[in-house]
Amino acid sequence: MVANICINGYHDGSISIVGENGVIAHLLEERYVHVKHQGPPMVCLSKIEDYIDTFDDLSFTHLFHQFADFNWAIAYLHYISKVTTPDKLMTPMIHSGHHDLHAICAFSHSEFDDAIVVVIDGAGSTYHYGKENQSIYEIYDSRIQILERNIVGDGTPIDVQDCPDYVNKKTNIGAGYVYAGVTEVCGFNALDCGKTMGLSAYGEEDSSIPELLSFSDGGNKNFVLGGKPKLEFQGSLFAVLKNEDGYKNKKNLAYRVQKDYEDYLIATCHRAIKNSKSKNLILTGGCALNCVANYKLLKSLPEDITLYVEPVSDDSGVSLGGAYQSYGPNKILNKSFKLDNLYLGGQLSHSYKLEDGESEYDVEPEHVAKLISLGNIVAIAQGRSEIGPRALGNRSILFDPRVKDGRDIVNTVKKREYFRPFAGTILKEHAKEWFDLNRLDESPFMMYAVDVLSDKKDKIPAILHIDGTCRIQTVTSKQNKNYYDLISEFYKLTDVPILFNTSFNLAGDTMVETIDDAFRTIRNSDINYMYLPEIKKLISVPYNLGKSTKPCYNL
Ligand SMILES: [Fe+2]
Repeated sequence: MVANICINGYHDGSISIVGENGVIAHLLEERYVHVKHQGPPMVCLSKIEDYIDTFDDLSFTHLFHQFADFNWAIAYLHYISKVTTPDKLMTPMIHSGHHDLHAICAFSHSEFDDAIVVVIDGAGSTYHYGKENQSIYEIYDSRIQILERNIVGDGTPIDVQDCPDYVNKKTNIGAGYVYAGVTEVCGFNALDCGKTMGLSAYGEEDSSIPELLSFSDGGNKNFVLGGKPKLEFQGSLFAVLKNEDGYKNKKNLAYRVQKDYEDYLIATCHRAIKNSKSKNLILTGGCALNCVANYKLLKSLPEDITLYVEPVSDDSGVSLGGAYQSYGPNKILNKSFKLDNLYLGGQLSHSYKLEDGESEYDVEPEHVAKLISLGNIVAIAQGRSEIGPRALGNRSILFDPRVKDGRDIVNTVKKREYFRPFAGTILKEHAKEWFDLNRLDESPFMMYAVDVLSDKKDKIPAILHIDGTCRIQTVTSKQNKNYYDLISEFYKLTDVPILFNTSFNLAGDTMVETIDDAFRTIRNSDINYMYLPEIKKLISVPYNLGKSTKPCYNL
């Protein structure tokens, strides 16, 4: 089998192994070392042999350094001697554009014949005076063409002579940078923008907060952080938080940056589709994880436009783009690597040993559904782990969406902030009875927070966000049979075809990858049950001192 390997050695470190028929494996370093967004995928390297006997091509993604040192990886690959053409190890390809790779990854997954691709993130590859943060591409007849590239710089105007493909010359900051900057001011890690998004729904218009993101020409140029350099700008926001009601101001700050980002996103995408004949719009880059803004964009689009939001839009996706590109820039764009599901990480083993007081039971889906319907938190672990940042039923924590204070219960158990909402997974055939999907038929990868229909809101309080939305995953039996069967049984019991779904981890940790991670997590938490559907087992963990939830149902 012909296989290409591409390594992303920066944050969200990843290794993609891609064959002629699609992704063989996509491995994320953070899942093995349990440090979010962890860089060079050293541990992933040692997993390559689990998936392929030999490989034919090797490449690396380029980010900050033109001539970055990748010898750590080359030395290991040389050592295991699995490459069919040893010369390839001596001269691996270095893919030169971070945004190009985001775009190729997303287009390859979309199944469109042509598209306009909008890439927005914090910072991508380094160009003459700064880093790209927003790019717009058009893809026609297998050719990818850059239409616009926006650069985050130090405020120095970019000489267009040096950068002939730049439309924007005066920008000094980008939307992703602004969002990350405000996220830091709110007290979160700059890469945890999802927390700011969750908090934003609690805020409101506040005249004491300066303009965060202004733009002219419909988002075409002149991004500013309130017209100030980054540090000065962040300083002014900290001053806002020091006012008498700092906490309220934090919520209002989150509200403001979310709203400004939504306005910017919609203006940018509308400008992009106006300038292209294509009716297919693709959104990717880290900002495409903003599922609240994605839904507002969807609702704003003309009826004849089809939107695809890339699920692996975090930086781990660039190694997928690199592996696809390695087939040849023109050839690859004729190929479709459409993703039917995202279960492309490591396989769960069922090799485990119970500790004193732990039990296991033989179960069918109806037993587990009953357990959940009686108020128990049940973790599920099966098959290959999800790639991208969302748990989609293979490494998830499940709960009853009907429980009124369910969000507080699970946030306490996961040790998360109170304001963070939870997602729901619904049987696809029922999705339109519960949610306003606009023009979507499905939402298999949780890329949208959609409106809950008004007559259904009081039925699923645990997953209803304060703004009336819910981030949803639709599921079919083909996509995930065990998960689908479990939700079907829950539906029979409750008339609700939905389960509360959150990632299987505690706050600060990464999603569990292995069976050992799974046991460690439930042993250190108030989660008392774990369902292993492939072997039809339910693990019960005893109630330790300090655990807050009580069993509601005995098998
Ligand atoms: Fe990126």
